[in-house]
Amino acid sequence: MKRQGQALAEQGKLQQANALFEKLSRQHSNDADIWFMRGTICGSLGQMNECVSHLGTTLALQEDHPGALFNLGIAYLKLEQPRNAVECLLSLLRLEPQHRDAHLSLVQAYSDLSQPGDALHHLEELVQMYPNEVQYLFDSAQIRLHTGDPNTAIAELKRVLALKPSHREALKLMGDACKNIGDTLQAATHYNHALKLTTDDAQICREIGLAFKSMQMFDHAIHSLGKALKIDPGQKNIHYHLASLGVGAVPDKAPNDYVTKLFDYFSDDFEEKLLGQLEYKTPLALNTLLRKHLAGNHALDILDLGCGTGLCGPVLRDIASRLTGVDLSPRMLDKAREKAVYDELLVGDITQHLFPPDRVFELIIAADVFVYIGDLTSVFETSQRLLEPAGRFVFSTESAHDSTQDYVLQNTGRYQHSQGYLTALAGQFGFTIEEIIETEIRKNQGKAIIGNLALLTKK
Ligand SMILES: C[S@@+](CC[C@H](N)C(=O)[O-])C[C@H]1O[C@@H](n2cnc3c(N)ncnc32)[C@H](O)[C@@H]1O
Repeated sequence: MKRQGQALAEQGKLQQANALFEKLSRQHSNDADIWFMRGTICGSLGQMNECVSHLGTTLALQEDHPGALFNLGIAYLKLEQPRNAVECLLSLLRLEPQHRDAHLSLVQAYSDLSQPGDALHHLEELVQMYPNEVQYLFDSAQIRLHTGDPNTAIAELKRVLALKPSHREALKLMGDACKNIGDTLQAATHYNHALKLTTDDAQICREIGLAFKSMQMFDHAIHSLGKALKIDPGQKNIHYHLASLGVGAVPDKAPNDYVTKLFDYFSDDFEEKLLGQLEYKTPLALNTLLRKHLAGNHALDILDLGCGTGLCGPVLRDIASRLTGVDLSPRMLDKAREKAVYDELLVGDITQHLFPPDRVFELIIAADVFVYIGDLTSVFETSQRLLEPAGRFVFSTESAHDSTQDYVLQNTGRYQHSQGYLTALAGQFGFTIEEIIETEIRKNQGKAIIGNLALLTKK
């Protein structure tokens, strides 16, 4: 009967096989293999709770049953219980250390558990057992890149490409890894190889376009970005990048997901790069401007728009009764939190309504944030609404050379604003301009960037 049940299962007659093994398990309740078959068939029928229960019975009768350990591990993965899956699969590996599928399933379980280090350990085992199997090296490289180890990813991808030079996904990933370490030329080269192996891949065209853009090869960039848009008109943020190269209408602001990704990515090196290489001075300069107009002691309720890693926080703490920061980038906010000077930090878009109608502040600061927003109408409107009467609004912008335009989107992806535009907005939203200073705010590739520092008071 056992054989007959097995044959039925092999022929895909699962319901009949199930009925047979149910009967058999009543007759031979101590036979581990019968419970194993019942559990396995229930798993194939999608009856996961029964599957787990019967495989559990199997293991109670025979704790070293390899099939039951494996199938139970898989059942737990399907039931989204990766921790239980890990327990079963590790027990199996103690019996059969070379069990390929157990290692593979552990990679999945540890990935589900967000334990990339453990997932990598099992990929390493697989790579050792199957050195010519490119998939394991590729998967390993992918995890390493996502966990901030681009150099090891590159080394592994080189091995993948040595084994299979036309591995398109590896070429793409190599492009990403090279981009990650700032080797734009190599990134473009690998993306180009990948593109040769496919007909139309909008994402690769986009990456090539962005690589050309950062190498200041603007015509090539426009060509590749345009191609990406043609292949997939829904490609994210392409209009913004093309507009920054003078093609198409200029959007009101940088796309939120672009800003979030950019600053999440830069959050670790942001301060070192800005304060060191770029000689960024805006928080200090805005503070100096502010103190010039604030006599005596103060305990102000302060809102820091686009607070980033919180460079304004420590500068303002001594005049703050409460300090609130808002930013689009959660990782920048993590850095701000480490400074322990803010009372509240919120993820949000400063052009949107972020606070209840009765929440007001006495000072709003925005240092080097409006460079990501072209049309400042909503920010002025929000600041006007959020400030108490006589509240201060202090911010910086980059200066537009062309004073006939309100704002200009540069090829750096940053907006410049004209002083005339700032003055008009101040008038429109009931602010008195206390002072606007045009000055060097930071460097870019050794050249001074000129900006406006403004202090306004709500009438
Ligand atoms: C150059 S950083 C400046 C950070 C900080 N104010 C300083 O002076 O160090 C610009 C910050 O503005 C944030 N940002 C840009 N657009 C934003 C928006 N619409 N809403 C909220 N934050 C934004 C970015 O995430 C980034 O952290």
